[in-house]
Amino acid sequence: MKKWIKKSWLVAMGLVMVLSVGLAGCGSKDQDTSLQKVKDKGTLVVGTSADYAPFEFPIVKNGKKQITGYDILIAKQIAKDMGVKLKIENTEFSSLISDLKGDKIDLILSGMTDTPAREKQVAFSKSYYTVNNYLLVRKADANKFNTKADTKDAQIGAQQASTQEDIAKAQTSGNVVTEGLVTSLTTELQAGKLDGVVVESEIADNYVKNYPDKYAKAKLQLKTPKADQHLSAAGRKGDKKLMKQVNKTITKMQKNGQMDKVLQQAQDIQAKYGTAK
Ligand code: ARG
Repeated sequence: MKKWIKKSWLVAMGLVMVLSVGLAGCGSKDQDTSLQKVKDKGTLVVGTSADYAPFEFPIVKNGKKQITGYDILIAKQIAKDMGVKLKIENTEFSSLISDLKGDKIDLILSGMTDTPAREKQVAFSKSYYTVNNYLLVRKADANKFNTKADTKDAQIGAQQASTQEDIAKAQTSGNVVTEGLVTSLTTELQAGKLDGVVVESEIADNYVKNYPDKYAKAKLQLKTPKADQHLSAAGRKGDKKLMKQVNKTITKMQKNGQMDKVLQQAQDIQAKYGTAK
């Protein structure tokens, strides 16, 4: 009888120990393996929609197609600081969040705005860039759209699932047409199928600078709500350690001037190689 009591005591103690170790594991931060996972893989996979020079665009270098741009140079530094290689997955902007949630990519760097609606689905880094919006038009129409009323009969393009879609709907009276790629919208603008495309400042300026005979910014003043102004990297909500590492690199690049330099560098690359299809 005595022996039996001793035995059950031991079993009970053992159970308590196993349980408490298990519980400690659940509560601790060590469950977040997001950073370690990327380090173990040796590659950081970043999703982007490379239709957005100078932020992300394809070039052909030494006969090989590659994606480059401001966001990509930031991603490169993030990967470098983690001691891993960078892999870029190019996809349409509207697929990025589901690709992230489906573990196809580790992070999004795609000129993505940190909006309250997206915050419900993903986590954002600190912001690295601030934008406004413009209506990009054909050069010949530079003075055609000065007020909202002037857009009454216009076909206005905006990228699908972008903040530009909302701005186009709220701030023009035209028929809003959405497409997966910004480059398709600007091609349709030149072909006369669209009359204007709502794009962010840096992108509009890039078109006007590179094709001064083809594009102009309309006089119509578009307002960019505060919630649509800040571009950030996005990660999965649970991946806190990975995001902390991303923020470390962004802060460093902002402090040492590298953040401005890589934007210039992206523009220089574009001037040298152009943008590929
Ligand atoms: N900032 C806008 C948004 O987040 C547009 C971003 C589009 N990015 C791109 N690579 N096409 O909705």
